[in-house]
Amino acid sequence: MQQSFAADVCKLDFWQPDSVKMVKPKRQVDFRVEADKTLEVEHLLKENKMDFNVLIDNLQTALHAQFDSKVRGTGHSYEKYNTWDTIAAWTADIAAENPTLVSRSVIGETYEGQPLYLLKLGKSGTNKKAIFMDCGFHAREWISPAFCQWFVKEAVETYGTDSTMTKLLNSLDFYVLPVVNIDGYVYSWTKDRMWRKTRSKNTGSSCIGTDLNRNFNAGWCELGASDRPCASTYCGSAPESEKESKALADFIRENLSTIKAYLTVHSYSQLLVFPYSYTYKLAKDYNELNTVASAAIQRLTSLYNTNYEYGPGAATVYPAAGGSDDWAYDQGIKYSFTFELRDTGKYGFLLPESQIKPTCEETMLAVKYIASYVLDHL
Ligand code: ARG
Ligand code: ZN
Repeated sequence: MQQSFAADVCKLDFWQPDSVKMVKPKRQVDFRVEADKTLEVEHLLKENKMDFNVLIDNLQTALHAQFDSKVRGTGHSYEKYNTWDTIAAWTADIAAENPTLVSRSVIGETYEGQPLYLLKLGKSGTNKKAIFMDCGFHAREWISPAFCQWFVKEAVETYGTDSTMTKLLNSLDFYVLPVVNIDGYVYSWTKDRMWRKTRSKNTGSSCIGTDLNRNFNAGWCELGASDRPCASTYCGSAPESEKESKALADFIRENLSTIKAYLTVHSYSQLLVFPYSYTYKLAKDYNELNTVASAAIQRLTSLYNTNYEYGPGAATVYPAAGGSDDWAYDQGIKYSFTFELRDTGKYGFLLPESQIKPTCEETMLAVKYIASYVLDHL
């Protein structure tokens, strides 16, 4: 297909990879096209002898189908997608209900002034090391915040009965940031379900938002990112130009001596990647990270046979600079991983609520494996 057509004329919304520039030979590409352009696009694909099939025929219908959970109601539920207001209230409740295990703090605020809540999980102790995990970097990846909520639930519900969880919480703290890109998440609920970036204004452009996972100081904007504010992978005006990435990076810098692992949860693609993404060079801990990733995925797959791939970001997905995983790794946090949860494109970002539970259950196994490994290698 002609680049100019895809990128400029038709404005395809790339779901996988994140932009037309990262398309490479022999890899699956998923994109959304406006209804009245479908025939034109199908014609071009056929003309260029490109195999394709329609994963989601009618996105409007699929938008409703994502809410297929039977447990509807207005309150919080671990098996449905929760609005930001519901998640915010939940962070207060879960801390109040589990005072010896959970505490809540605020590490900053978003562009639109929402408090960035951080939950700290763990039994109090002295000199404890910690694992940092965040969800909701990209607004439309709704399964990601759902996983952070699930993780906290599992921690409080299985502490004292599950021996692995008990050991982890006795010996380590977990910092869980349930939604990083709150403004974008709210926007994906109220205005545009397919929104990805933050909601900050860009000077000299009417386009809104920066891609938070291109906004960190790790080969910033060198490749796999765009310097154009209208692009979905816009790297921002400078590293940490966004209040959200700045708050996250500040917190990690302040706690560098205790944080031993950094986990960041995205969707979709079913991948577990580790540094580097800003270069094809192998990280100095490549062998160990690859072994840990392999074992973590083995655990994950054992539950429902969900197929995952793993490897360094640049080679496994595509090179993309400015990611939080590479930044954390270069700060000295060796165990730095990015999860890309279910699925592989059948529903994409519109993963039905009925898959929240199995997705979270299998992901728990991988996260608990990594955490246990980190604890055994302090
Ligand atoms: N889909 C994720 C993103 O584009 C992949 C993240 C992998 N890590 C990275 N530093 N690019 O943000
Ligand atoms: Zn993402």
